[in-house]
Amino acid sequence: MGLEPLTDAFGRVHRSLRLSVTDRCNLRCRYCMPAEGMAWLGRDELLDADELARLVALFARLGVTDVRVTGGEPLVRPGIAEIVARVKGTPGIREVSITTNGVLLAGQVDELMAAGLDRVNVSVDSLDPERFAQITRRRDLDRVLEGLAACEAHERLRPIKVNAVVLRGISEPDVLPLAELARRRPYVVRFIEAMPLDASREWTREHVMTGQELRAMIHARWPLEPLERERPAAPATQFVSSVTEPFCQQCDRLRVTADGMLRTCLFATDETDLRGPLRAGADDAALERMVRGAVLGKHAGHAIGTEGWTYRGRPMSMIGG
Ligand code: 5AD
Ligand code: SF4
Repeated sequence: MGLEPLTDAFGRVHRSLRLSVTDRCNLRCRYCMPAEGMAWLGRDELLDADELARLVALFARLGVTDVRVTGGEPLVRPGIAEIVARVKGTPGIREVSITTNGVLLAGQVDELMAAGLDRVNVSVDSLDPERFAQITRRRDLDRVLEGLAACEAHERLRPIKVNAVVLRGISEPDVLPLAELARRRPYVVRFIEAMPLDASREWTREHVMTGQELRAMIHARWPLEPLERERPAAPATQFVSSVTEPFCQQCDRLRVTADGMLRTCLFATDETDLRGPLRAGADDAALERMVRGAVLGKHAGHAIGTEGWTYRGRPMSMIGG
């Protein structure tokens, strides 16, 4: 504690770490993974629980207060509750959250809560079994809904955040039913613009349903009403418009991939290997220098959607969202 916070060349202070604990997943969402043929990391390529704990402690000393555990799908990682408990027990860490597809949540949420989980984001792109299967390539909507119900039983987890990636030509019928969920407490639904991070590189700007379009759809259905308590979907509906309204200037996030690479941006094409030095016996001062160096090299922002922009980095499932 007491060290200078992680500040980049643009004055952004980094308080939030997204920690990917596996690249594997039990779904195959089309904006993320191919139907088959993903090359998985080997078991010894993954950071083990001790290595994860060591890195979290290092980042916490450098001012990180919030850790979000991601994947792939974090709940397929054996020992995930122990990882959550160790993150939560790290001095300086205030909040530990998890982003999950919800399939395994019903069976694990009690244990995760006992481990100290503070918050959960469940990714649900459709409440219709057929479209859910079309998007995720698995027929698991019922399990996800059971997972959400299991979360509702835990008051401390409220509000439950639901992430919905919206794909033009597929998801239009899902927007209002999901917004309806947001009108029912205790949910906050976040509509996310599809980003060019799919493994098959099929994303085009035309697939993106923009936050602006979504807001218009929702407000057309639930116009502003005079009574305070019958206000429309807002604020239980949020829009993550990373493509059309980037929030890079406010970005306070760092990411560590399941194989221990530090990424300063989702769209970074360079990574800083922390696992290699960690396994070679680097001390905290050496690791700190590497982290500070990487943060200083963080770019001002991304240029997705602008003329000629291409992305050659790793896909979403390897980064953790
Ligand atoms: N664009 C936007 N969001 C994505 N996610 C995965 N791939 C993409 C993409 N290409 C989302 C998941 C989950 C979070 C981790 O990232 O749906 O909510
Ligand atoms: Fe799995 Fe999440 Fe990728 Fe879907 S978006 S395939 S749930 S990692």
